[in-house]
Amino acid sequence: MIKRSLKKVFDRLGYEVRKKGAPRLGYDLEDEARRLIEKVRPYTMLPDERLITLYQQVVHCESAGVPGDFVECGVWKGGAVALMALANLKRGAARRSIHLFDAFTQICEPDKAVDGAKAVRQAREFGRGGSAEGRMRPLEGFYDSMGGPGTLEGNKDLLERQVRYDPAFLHYHRGWFQETMPQDAPKIGRIAILRLDGDWYASTKVCLEHLYDKVVKGGFVVVDDYGCYEGCRKAVDEFRSERKIADYLHHIDADGRYWLKS
Ligand SMILES: C[S@@+](CC[C@H](N)C(=O)[O-])C[C@H]1O[C@@H](n2cnc3c(N)ncnc32)[C@H](O)[C@@H]1O
Repeated sequence: MIKRSLKKVFDRLGYEVRKKGAPRLGYDLEDEARRLIEKVRPYTMLPDERLITLYQQVVHCESAGVPGDFVECGVWKGGAVALMALANLKRGAARRSIHLFDAFTQICEPDKAVDGAKAVRQAREFGRGGSAEGRMRPLEGFYDSMGGPGTLEGNKDLLERQVRYDPAFLHYHRGWFQETMPQDAPKIGRIAILRLDGDWYASTKVCLEHLYDKVVKGGFVVVDDYGCYEGCRKAVDEFRSERKIADYLHHIDADGRYWLKS
């Protein structure tokens, strides 16, 4: 209460009160984005650069009238999806369908043949007895140091109870992408933002194969881990080369990239 009143007073005086430790990065719409990011921060592992950019992308879709749904493949605790929902509530004239694809358990194993040394090292370090054979089974313990894996109930609580997004527009696709994509992708219409955050080669590739063609002209394809995991980069590079996609790959930060579909 006191905090809110003080904020208001400073606001009127033309000053901005921000928590220490969050230095301004100089992005357009940064202050507006940060006010919403505060609400989702406990539910996402994305750094501010990628969240602010995601906010800008939603605002662009809303103001330029880019049609289609928002989709995230790899939601964990739902923070990035919740930011898209909040941005739509703030800036959108109408609700959009939002699709959440996730196993809602620990991540599956990376594949040492394609995912690179960092993924293999992390699977062994964080996954209890974890190996990197590319099997579709949860790497027990992988997210334990981060408060555990995301759950379906936790995501629903965040989106429906805290964000208060209309549940009729929320679609939860629970299971390994390799199983849910062939089943559920055909039921999805146009996509305005496709956010790929499944870390590994196979997780990234299968989503591109099933969802890319649904992204509208002028829509966004966002890749969270391009600079982070070799397998993710390989999946994206292969797909872009197979499909002769020449759209410029924009840099968000060391890891994140996106392109606008031409
Ligand atoms: C890096 S986290 C996502 C982070 C999230 N976007 C955020 O805002 O913090 C990756 C998520 O993808 C899920 N995942 C990765 N590969 C998957 C697959 N093949 N099928 C289903 N879920 C997968 C993991 O279980 C995990 O929840």
